Amino acid sequence: MNTTDTPIVDARDVTYSLEVAGRPLHILKKVSLRVAPAEVVAIVGPSGSGKTSLLMLLAGLERATSGLVSVKGQDLSKLGEDELARFRRKTLGIVFQSFHLIPSLTALDNVGLALEIANPELSMSQVREKAAAALEAVGLGQRLDHRPSAISGGEQQRVGLARAMVANPPLLLADEPTGNLDQTTGALVVELMFDLARKQGTAVVLITHDPHLAQRADRVFTMTSGELVETTVAR
Ligand SMILES: Nc1ncnc2c1ncn2[C@@H]1O[C@H](COP(=O)(O)OP(=O)(O)OP(=O)(O)O)[C@@H](O)[C@H]1O
Ligand SMILES: [Mg+2]
Repeated sequence: MNTTDTPIVDARDVTYSLEVAGRPLHILKKVSLRVAPAEVVAIVGPSGSGKTSLLMLLAGLERATSGLVSVKGQDLSKLGEDELARFRRKTLGIVFQSFHLIPSLTALDNVGLALEIANPELSMSQVREKAAAALEAVGLGQRLDHRPSAISGGEQQRVGLARAMVANPPLLLADEPTGNLDQTTGALVVELMFDLARKQGTAVVLITHDPHLAQRADRVFTMTSGELVETTVAR
């Protein structure tokens, strides 16, 4: 990362501890991570090591026990619940492992709803136009009126990706977005993510169990028992 860039993500010495059955559980131990605009960072590591917990902190869905979590220059610990919700709408796209689409809505409306929430000032026709363009960008121009049950897993995940990207967020968080997909479809989804990220200058934090996908990122980090270490392999 060019050190003169203002990072989108600036996490410093972040700890995250919970009390479980009366005893402290130290989930994250002094984790630091900086991600620049347009940079794709992959996080790998064993199950239970703390990857999703870190993503939850970056999304402002959980609060750090100590340390700094700053996103786009905003210290998240300074924001109240309403401000955090606004921050998420404006700043974040999130792609989940299990797609979390709304079953009763078509692909177009799933994406359109996310855009409407992020940009309430848009007209209905602007929302439809932008949502359709986002679905076309992920290769689903022919699936606009399909409900999630009528499309494949890979297509659902691409709807999830279109939804995460449609409002053009500066930061995309993806938690094993390819975990439920076959390798070819998974590679396609990640390719789309990299491509859209680079075109829009979006910073991406991608959690994956797939070392081949991780290799495609600009930098790779490994989480082990709550400790995050950069493990980028020179190419
Ligand atoms: N709310 C909670 N209450 C108790 N323990 C929790 C809670 N959230 C996370 N943990 C624990 O913290 C550890 C890290 O969990 P986390 O979900 O971050 O792991 P992960 O690296 O994402 O694993 P996976 O690869 O399986 O998704 C686990 O041991 C988990 O049981
Ligand atoms: Mg996880």
